[in-house]
Amino acid sequence: MRSLMCGEVGEEHVGSVLTVCGWVARRREHGEHLAFLDLRDHTGIVQCVVDGAADLRSEWVVRVTGTVRLRPEGTINEQLATGAVELGDCRVEVLNTAEPPPFPLDERAADVDEVVRLRHRYVDLRRVEMQRNLRTRARVLGAIRRSMDAQGFVEVETPLLIASTPEGARDFVVPSRQRPGSFYALPQSPQLFKQLCMVGGVDRYYQVARCLRDEDLRADRQFEFTQLDAEMSFADQEDVLDVITAAVDAAVRSVRTGAPGGGGGSALDGVEAGIGEVPRMSWREAVDRFGSDKPDIRFGMELTELTDLFADTGFNAFRAPSVKGIRHAGASGSTSRSLLDDLTETAKRWGAKGLVWMRVEEGEDGGVRLVSPVAKFMSDAELAGVASRLDAQVGDVLYLVADEWAATTHVLGLLRLELGRPPTSEGGLRFLWVVDFPLFESIDAVTGRPVPAHHPFTMPHPDDLAALDGPSEGLLAVRSQAYDLVLNGWELGSGSVRIHRRELQQQVLDLLGIGPEEAADRFGFLLDAFRFGAPPHAGFAFGIDRLVALLLGEDNIREVIAFPKTQSGTDPLTGAPTSVDPAQLAELGLRTLPPRG
Ligand code: AMO
Ligand code: AMP
Repeated sequence: MRSLMCGEVGEEHVGSVLTVCGWVARRREHGEHLAFLDLRDHTGIVQCVVDGAADLRSEWVVRVTGTVRLRPEGTINEQLATGAVELGDCRVEVLNTAEPPPFPLDERAADVDEVVRLRHRYVDLRRVEMQRNLRTRARVLGAIRRSMDAQGFVEVETPLLIASTPEGARDFVVPSRQRPGSFYALPQSPQLFKQLCMVGGVDRYYQVARCLRDEDLRADRQFEFTQLDAEMSFADQEDVLDVITAAVDAAVRSVRTGAPGGGGGSALDGVEAGIGEVPRMSWREAVDRFGSDKPDIRFGMELTELTDLFADTGFNAFRAPSVKGIRHAGASGSTSRSLLDDLTETAKRWGAKGLVWMRVEEGEDGGVRLVSPVAKFMSDAELAGVASRLDAQVGDVLYLVADEWAATTHVLGLLRLELGRPPTSEGGLRFLWVVDFPLFESIDAVTGRPVPAHHPFTMPHPDDLAALDGPSEGLLAVRSQAYDLVLNGWELGSGSVRIHRRELQQQVLDLLGIGPEEAADRFGFLLDAFRFGAPPHAGFAFGIDRLVALLLGEDNIREVIAFPKTQSGTDPLTGAPTSVDPAQLAELGLRTLPPRG
């Protein structure tokens, strides 16, 4: 039907008669008998000049045959790849008419309500940005698959209808017709199956895996998302880090060296070639310096240790196990009193007992003076110590928090992001491995049981095994062999060395309060498998949606998913979730209750 794509028409074609197909992006009349038509397909736009009055409207589907010619002097469009040429003497065949689009498909689409875009996603997908995003995603997937294949991994598909996998979210469940009252769970990840693959001698498994989790949706979370999931036998943490680094590196390179329709997202500016050496940081250091286990290292504003300065303070609030501060450089002029009050309220919502702020002004002796409602409660030595530790300069604002270490770091970590974080599309790509995660994240106040930081199959650090038998206070200090890959402050992926011996697995499950019976019930098949020669193994999974969004500088993973759900979990296009036919419910042995509330 066509001889060339719209975006490919160039000066080398001058004089040829060509046929292009696409959608009418724009139409301008020129006098009575001349019309200019911008024709669009996924490669771009070409201008077609039509003699005579053509009845054509926006988004009509047409086929145009014309002669390529140079545009007249002064009408060349530098913004357009095809801007030096046009198709003249065009014959236009209407392949389909179209209703006016529900929203404009040019730059103005950025301001359109997302629900409207999603309801008409098929129209939205025609936009240049969406085409770029989908094609970049495909390119990234291709590069990752090639990298994993080259590294000796074999793609194995694991089932979607399974018994529950513990990844910490709620399951989506599917009722069984043949066994009314029984349900399949949709996989939160292929975790247990990939471990079974290791017992099965697969050696190096990977899968581009769809995962389903019923959790609150956010900019970086959907109910269904895609992981690059991997597992390897006779391998340790270093092996996994190498493999994953290589796969992510291949993904980044594939986008940078883009062909038409490829990347070019500004997040890639400054990334010369690939991702280079990825720095590492222990979990403890990450939280201590950045107040987060997924630090955004595109900017500084690190948390500064001040605890020792207040060891003997008269300011009661600061007699605390941990006092830390951050410095917002040069911000005093743009930080009003009411903004400071708002920040204090926000900090309290994050769990702070309070927030001390200090403006840095010029002192009498030419040094600096810290101006704050609480300065009067602090000694000169304390104030001088704060100023020097934080390297306070005239015009800065300092923020201080005192509390338990976990609370101080949490609150200041969030404040640091609030005040200093660059836009998603700026600052390049800053990857970071966070290693040495604790095995347990907290002790549940109700049950007194530890809560796993990753999942219950994570191998404890070999030096900390003894503490597993010790008192529960010691449990939070037990390190694990778990590691995360972080990109620009997003958790890109997680993994761990796994427990491969039945006894240790049962011991960890016991600690979590999952006794032998419940364990047998929920993961008996895994524990059984461990009896039949499980090799040492380790693995990882990273979010493809998140990686592609960050590569493209998009704030929300919905922009890189063809048909996502809204923030409230619905699909405005198909109406899902919907009620089902009573007959279907009856067949499944189900009855629904009236909606709550
Ligand atoms: P985890 O639960 O950390 O680990 O998930 C791995 C990665 O998957 C992505 N991800 C999501 N992306 C979009 N929407 C979501 N709701 C969502 N949830 C997770 C993130 C995350 O880092 N089985 C383990 C991996 C392993 O141990 O090998 C697992 O699934 O990028
Ligand atoms: P208060 O003594 O509670 O009236 O608090 C005096 C000031 O210190 C207020 O500005 C509080 O926001 C702040 N403040 C109180 N407790 C803390 C804390 N733990 N960390 C930081 N600031 C605090």
